Parts: sequence; structure tokens; C-alpha cells
Amino acid sequence: MQSFGEKLWTLDGDNVRMFGVLPFTTRMTVARLNSGGVWVHSPVQPTPERCAAVNELGPVEHLVAPNKIHSLGIEPWRALYPSATVWASPAFTERHPNIAVDTLLTNNVEAPWSDEIDHCAVEGHAVLDEVVFLHKSSGTLIITDLIQKHEAAGETWVWRGVKHAAGILGKDGGVPLDIKLSVRDKAALRLSVDRILGWDFDNLVVAHGHCLHGGAKEAVRQAFDWITG
Ligand SMILES: [Fe+2]
Repeated sequence: MQSFGEKLWTLDGDNVRMFGVLPFTTRMTVARLNSGGVWVHSPVQPTPERCAAVNELGPVEHLVAPNKIHSLGIEPWRALYPSATVWASPAFTERHPNIAVDTLLTNNVEAPWSDEIDHCAVEGHAVLDEVVFLHKSSGTLIITDLIQKHEAAGETWVWRGVKHAAGILGKDGGVPLDIKLSVRDKAALRLSVDRILGWDFDNLVVAHGHCLHGGAKEAVRQAFDWITG
């Protein structure tokens, strides 16, 4: 568990293979709420060590599946923390009808944590139903797959080349090419991006790769210049 900002932590999970081949590092984000409870975003597989680290912060009150792809940790965490509330992206239940969800995070949903963590269900994409979060007290944007900044170190030259071509390699990584190529409604996506860029943040946590302390607003603006420019 690494401290990222005021009341905000990250915890790196196991490496996975996207589409069965492409190596991805994984990361979950943990916030301690004013209630004293803990909000867990995109939970990685729980291990005794990981749970102990989270338990030190407080009782787990909320589990968040930020898009329909990041589903693996939800059931194992709920089994360990049965009183936690599960929040999921708008299309999550369509993709995972057997995973119990309490509330789908559409844009008109108010959560008990909304004063501390704002959310935007990004609209206009044909496939990805990602919900982006603003952790207000630390000024941190939390993004799962919409922006990726994969570490180059330790990768074979083949995967570095693939990730570079997809626009997701290193600190300059941005919106993956496959996501750019599958926009359904450009105007709707732009409205979502404009809303996010209107938030007050300077830091960025991503699920895959380099996070940013400072300069995040400009980095996110650049990552979306193909839709806003
Ligand atoms: Fe992902």
C-alpha cells in the first residue's frame, strides 16, 4: 500500500494478460472517507497482506467496479466484506449478470461519498462504460482504462512496440487507440471530457502504469485533444 495523497492510497496487484496475451500491471485505489470507512476502487485480488493493509485504514464500506472490464476483484472482496456496498459502471450488470451490484453509477446517482468523491460516467463510447472519479481532498483524478501509461521497464521490445503504437506506453501514454477508434457519439464523449476537465485536480491515478503527482490537468487535456481540439 502506498500513500498517494491526503486520505488516498494505491495498492498494486498482480500482473494480468489482457486479451490473453498483452501484459498489464494492475492497481487499486483506496480512500478513507470522513465516516472512517474505506472506499475501494477497482479491487485487485485480495490476499491476506492486502486485506491487512486495507483493514488498517478502517472498515471496508464501499467496493467500486469502475467499468465492466474491471470485475475480477468484486466478488472475492464482497465475500470478505459482506456488508460493503457494491457500486458499478452503467453497463456492468449487462456484462456480469451473476455479480451482485447494489447501485449502478449513472450520472444522476448520489452516493453517500459524493461530497468527497465526485463521479462522471463517461458517455459516448461504444464499448467502454468507464466511470471517472475525482477525489476532492487530494485533488486527484482516478482513471481506470481511459488513459493508460504502461511502464516500459521489464517489457519485451515486442510489447513495448505494441503499447507505443497503441499510445499507452510510458508517462506520455494516453487514451488507447482501440478506445479512440470505437467512439459512438463524439459530442457526448466531449461533454463528459469537458466535465472532467472542469474538475479541480492536479494529480492522476491510473490503473495501468505511471501515476502523476502534479501536472495532471494538462496531461489529461492533452490525452483528449483528439476529441476536444
Ligand atoms: Fe484495465
